[in-house]
Amino acid sequence: MEVKKYIDEEEIKRKVKELAEKISNDYRGKEVVLICVLKGASVFAVELALNMSINVRFEFIEVSSYSGTMSTGKIKLNKDISSSIEGKDVLVVEDIIDTGRTLSYLKDYLLSKGPNSLKICTLIDKKERRVVELDAQYTGFVIEDKFIVGYGLDYNEDYRNLNYIGVIE
Ligand code: IMP
Ligand code: MG
Repeated sequence: MEVKKYIDEEEIKRKVKELAEKISNDYRGKEVVLICVLKGASVFAVELALNMSINVRFEFIEVSSYSGTMSTGKIKLNKDISSSIEGKDVLVVEDIIDTGRTLSYLKDYLLSKGPNSLKICTLIDKKERRVVELDAQYTGFVIEDKFIVGYGLDYNEDYRNLNYIGVIE
C-alpha cells in the first residue's frame, strides 16, 4: 500500500496556527476546556493548543463505532472526560468529520453535562459525506471524499505519526 502526499506539513502548520489565533481571539477571558477526541485528534489538538495565546484545560474522550455501524451508526463511549465541564466553555477538537455521527453523539452527550457553550473545531471536513446534520464552527480543510491518513488519522491504527496528510492508494 502506498501513501501519496495530499496536504503537506507546512500547509497543515499554517492552517493550525491560523485556527489557533482565531480561537484565542474568540475565547479570550473565558474558561476554556479543550476536549480532544481520541485517538485521531491527539496530534492536531496538541499543536492547536501550543499555538494558542490563551489558557486552556485539557480533557480527553474516546468513542468508537459498534461494528457494522455504517448502517446503524451506533457510537460507544470508551473513555469519558475526567472533570466537570458544567458552566465551562467547551471546544471539542476532532480530526475529521465524515458522516457526522460521532460528533453528533458527542455533542449531545457533552451538552447534557451543562457547559456554558460548546463549539467544534475539526481539522478536516468531508462535507459531502454527511448523513446527520452537524456543523463545525472552526474547520481547517474541506476535502472531497477520500480516505486520508497521517497527522493523527489512521488506517487500521497505522500511519498516525506521519507529519503530513496522505491518501492511501
Ligand atoms: P463520522 O462519525 O462518520 O463523522 O466519522 C468520523 C470518524 O471516522 C473519525 O473520527 C475517524 O476516526 C473516522 N474517519 C472518517 N474518515 C476518515 C479518513 O478519511 N481517514 C481516517 N479516519 C477517518
Ligand atoms: Mg477519530
